[in-house]
Amino acid sequence: MNHFTSVNDVPDLSALLARCRSVKQNPLGTLNLGVGKTLGCIFFNPSLRTRLSTQRAAYNLGLSVIVMNIGAEGWKLEFEDGTVMNDDKAEHIKDAVAVMGQYCDVLGIRAFANLKDRDADYQEAILKAFKQYSGVPIISLESATRHPCQSLADLITIEQHKPSQVPTVLLTWAPHPKALPQAVGNSFAEWTLAAGYNLRIANPAGYDLNPEFTRGAEIFHDAKSAYEGVDFVYAKNWSSYQSYGEVLNQEMEWRVDEQKMALTENAGFMHCLPVRRNMVVTDAVIDSERSLVVEQAANRVVAAQAVLEAILR
Ligand code: CP
Repeated sequence: MNHFTSVNDVPDLSALLARCRSVKQNPLGTLNLGVGKTLGCIFFNPSLRTRLSTQRAAYNLGLSVIVMNIGAEGWKLEFEDGTVMNDDKAEHIKDAVAVMGQYCDVLGIRAFANLKDRDADYQEAILKAFKQYSGVPIISLESATRHPCQSLADLITIEQHKPSQVPTVLLTWAPHPKALPQAVGNSFAEWTLAAGYNLRIANPAGYDLNPEFTRGAEIFHDAKSAYEGVDFVYAKNWSSYQSYGEVLNQEMEWRVDEQKMALTENAGFMHCLPVRRNMVVTDAVIDSERSLVVEQAANRVVAAQAVLEAILR
């Protein structure tokens, strides 16, 4: 694997999931693989799980790690080519990235959507710049449109708990006070469909995800009917893709609660975290025995380690 920015970078998903199972059983089995090499983790946006789990995974492989919160601590970057840099942007992305590639053998990047210009976000300018100018393998730690490390951890979790070979999974939109990117929803759809699961997506009108990610899923526009008989409920908020970046709906009928979970096939509850309790999901659901959220977060280490290992090999 040269880069890890979407499921399309994975040559064999079944083999990667099998490797994840082995990593989970024996996390220190390849402790020397990364010795003498350095992973750089570059964050344009905040993080808890991604930052800690990627570092932990790197240490399990013997890698050294450099972390930079470039959004808060770095020079302000110019992204346009050919610009006369006479404003507050002190460094061009192509120079900054080329330098980072000199210090690191692998680079992980977190760069969220700005939710103002859909075309710009979906062109993934920052991720592309890192691929183009760093000269080293790139791992997406959540880009404008995808969160592949999260999605791999989600699949590890589902594989461990699925009641049948082909589970039925519901991705449901849930209310949130802020405008959030579509990256987790896009990515979850893309990965679960690649895994061959039955995917249902429930969201209010105006919140359909980009069909490029959801082709093959069954789409519902009411808050309840999609819950019937599913094995997993994955809650996530996203802002509108059509009315790009807008919050069109905050209806609490979309919150995941015990009544809706009772319609399922004793489904596991999933969320990538951080979660707004009692807005996205009630305490009763997230604190129940069916909640898989902490296990999902634990599986972030497994996912990151399997990805780093594949890149190092
Ligand atoms: N799920 C996830 O990516 O968490 P963080 O934003 O805290 O890294």
